[in-house]
Amino acid sequence: MKVLMVCLGNICRSPIAEGILRAKVAEQHLDIRTDSAGTAAYHVGNPPDSRMILTAKKNGYDISDLRARQFTVEDFDQFDLIFAMDQSNYNNILKLARNSNDEEKVRLMLNETAPGANSEVPDPYYGGDQGFQHVIDLLEEAIESFLSRTNG
Ligand code: 4NP
Repeated sequence: MKVLMVCLGNICRSPIAEGILRAKVAEQHLDIRTDSAGTAAYHVGNPPDSRMILTAKKNGYDISDLRARQFTVEDFDQFDLIFAMDQSNYNNILKLARNSNDEEKVRLMLNETAPGANSEVPDPYYGGDQGFQHVIDLLEEAIESFLSRTNG
């Protein structure tokens, strides 16, 4: 299975979502390929935000190797599941969908924790350090829920 995590800039939320998923995939020896992307191009080529790299490290995740890229329509061909961090990301991904097969791949990340609640992973970019930890807590819970229902 191939799973893509998507946010706006691909420097805060989706890189840590990728980092958490890839760590759990390695621990549990699962056959899941992971990647992340942003709907916007502002930060293409950049490493994750330094505040997220630091908070991730404190939680045992090294995401310093990741580099931002923009989501493209070809990602619908490359991935089986595309997780959007918030409703705006979700809508922007769906705008690029070519058919119902593409559309069916897109999910809101926190619906893995609370199906149908349509909760969002809040954008931590303009806030304080506690926002970054909150994002990690939300994503660990959602990714664990996702993996508990997936068998590779
Ligand atoms: P992300 O956070 O979507 O979680 O990577 C953001 C990063 C950068 C910006 C907005 C959100 N920005 O406007 O530059």
